[in-house]
Amino acid sequence: MEEGRIVRVAGSVVAASGLPRAGINHRVEVGHSRLTGEVIAISKDTVTIQVYEGTEGLRIGEPVYCSGSPFNVCLGPGLLGMIFDGIQRPLKTLSEIEGNFIGRGARIGFEKDSRKWELEFLVTPGQKVAPGEVIATTPETPAIVHKITCPPGLSGVVKELYRGPFGLRDAVCRLVSGEEIHLSSRWPCRVPRPYERKLSPSEPHVTGQRIFDCFFPLAKGGVAVVPGGFGTGKTVLQHALSKNLDVDVVVYVGCGERGNEMSEIISDFTRLEDPATGRPLLERTIMVANTSNMPVAAREASLYTGITMAEYYRDMGYRVVLLADSISRWAEALREMSSRLEEMPGEEGYPSYLSSRLSQFYERAGRVACLGGGSTGSLTVVSAVSPPGGDLSEPVTQVSLRMAGCFWALDPDLASQRHYPAVNWLESFSLYRESLYPVWEKADGGDWRQNVQELGKILERENSVRDIAQLVGYNSLQDGEKLLMNVGKAIREGFLRQDYNHPVDTRCSPAKTGRMMERFLGAYREALSHLSSGEKDFEDPVELLPMEELRRLRFEPESGGKK
Ligand SMILES: Nc1ncnc2c1ncn2[C@@H]1O[C@H](COP(=O)(O)OP(=O)(O)OP(=O)(O)O)[C@@H](O)[C@H]1O
Ligand SMILES: [Mg+2]
Repeated sequence: MEEGRIVRVAGSVVAASGLPRAGINHRVEVGHSRLTGEVIAISKDTVTIQVYEGTEGLRIGEPVYCSGSPFNVCLGPGLLGMIFDGIQRPLKTLSEIEGNFIGRGARIGFEKDSRKWELEFLVTPGQKVAPGEVIATTPETPAIVHKITCPPGLSGVVKELYRGPFGLRDAVCRLVSGEEIHLSSRWPCRVPRPYERKLSPSEPHVTGQRIFDCFFPLAKGGVAVVPGGFGTGKTVLQHALSKNLDVDVVVYVGCGERGNEMSEIISDFTRLEDPATGRPLLERTIMVANTSNMPVAAREASLYTGITMAEYYRDMGYRVVLLADSISRWAEALREMSSRLEEMPGEEGYPSYLSSRLSQFYERAGRVACLGGGSTGSLTVVSAVSPPGGDLSEPVTQVSLRMAGCFWALDPDLASQRHYPAVNWLESFSLYRESLYPVWEKADGGDWRQNVQELGKILERENSVRDIAQLVGYNSLQDGEKLLMNVGKAIREGFLRQDYNHPVDTRCSPAKTGRMMERFLGAYREALSHLSSGEKDFEDPVELLPMEELRRLRFEPESGGKK
């Protein structure tokens, strides 16, 4: 390791000299306590380092060690079920060693995980292997089989298979060239992992939330952005998705949340059950937790740590979702780091490269043909944005908006009426609609697209009639308008609304969603034809609608059958 000296310390930014071989993004260890850091700028004879831990007490002249390799994460079996900090240190192991508060310079990376794994080899000596090809498998958890693949950049003929059980740092086989393939590999987390080619996002995700599956569907490999002010339900929505989304692996990145909230989220997560298997959801989840009192630089890194681990499972052919809560806190970390570097601030103080950094991050989502041929994996990103004051015109929301395939805007007014999920159906959008509706229709057998369009039109017209009613009063409306207002209300309350805490309503299958749409529209059509028959056997047109039945529909069990 090359050794230099600290020449300047400014908060978490440290300048060092005597490191001529250091490169951008190289991992370094700073000071006597060997704090983890990363090279972020190089000038003639000094390198600028971002330190990921508290820098209190650091002095000029202390040593800096440069590893000569980029900042990276360790990838191997055992990641599932773990909770890491932003630089991939397992929090549970840290707390066993260091107590409740993490000391500085704790060098307990995931690579030191002591578990041993037995492998089932899929290759034999003499066989040629290329990047991405599966060498061996091991049941990582009851839910997920871990595939050890030939790492990118390595290929050749297998010479010898080693005997297990293997630890993370052990080699599992040797190639004729003498090179070895290890149980774990390292990957620079700021570089996207390679794949064969990107595929179009033409397969729908089932979110289990009616408003999304109908109006704003999400595609596998898509990007959904969830902007919402304080308390509008972003975190609950992410919980609902981690539980109900049809994915194999969930990576949750908690970015800059308050410490007590984060511990609540983690303990909630540990209790969540996988509805498909009844087993703990944690068995197919990786959590990256970086609370607001942890160093900001590690928060900035946490998003990359998370997405690299997500890509790793995508490359095994799994469907993966990365849930980030929230991107705004990540952008704030970027802003703070940029101001320490004395860079020219851009819009609202964010650095001018905010947009390109965020875009590069979102670009890592996608459905791909994996290296090694054969399998298809997907990485879907759902990121919460918490714009200050709920102002959607601020830069982080705007950049995310440009990259989003789905924009699920949460509305504080709806949240204050306790209409959850508080998704504003007039402001939200999904670019995947047209490519996904045919798939829905095929699966459901019904006329999905047309029903959704009809429901959407009713809601739009109801919105304008509601404005008129506020001016002239409900009683002055015509019967048709009164009917429209009531059916709109029934749809909002009985269809769009979904209670996360209700055992049945928490998840709605596409089949039930399809049935419910037909029932709402059917009830409206029946009432309309009664109205047009001219028979005036009611006082208020609301009597023509089975309001009670429509209200109850969402709580009926899935097997409720066709009504
Ligand atoms: N789908 C839902 N079903 C039932 N209740 C909900 C739902 N979504 C949100 N809530 C209620 O709203 C409250 C606030 O939600 P949540 O903590 O998710 O908001 P948030 O947007 O993450 O807030 P913050 O900005 O503080 O992070 C929850 O405690 C819960 O009571
Ligand atoms: Mg939250």
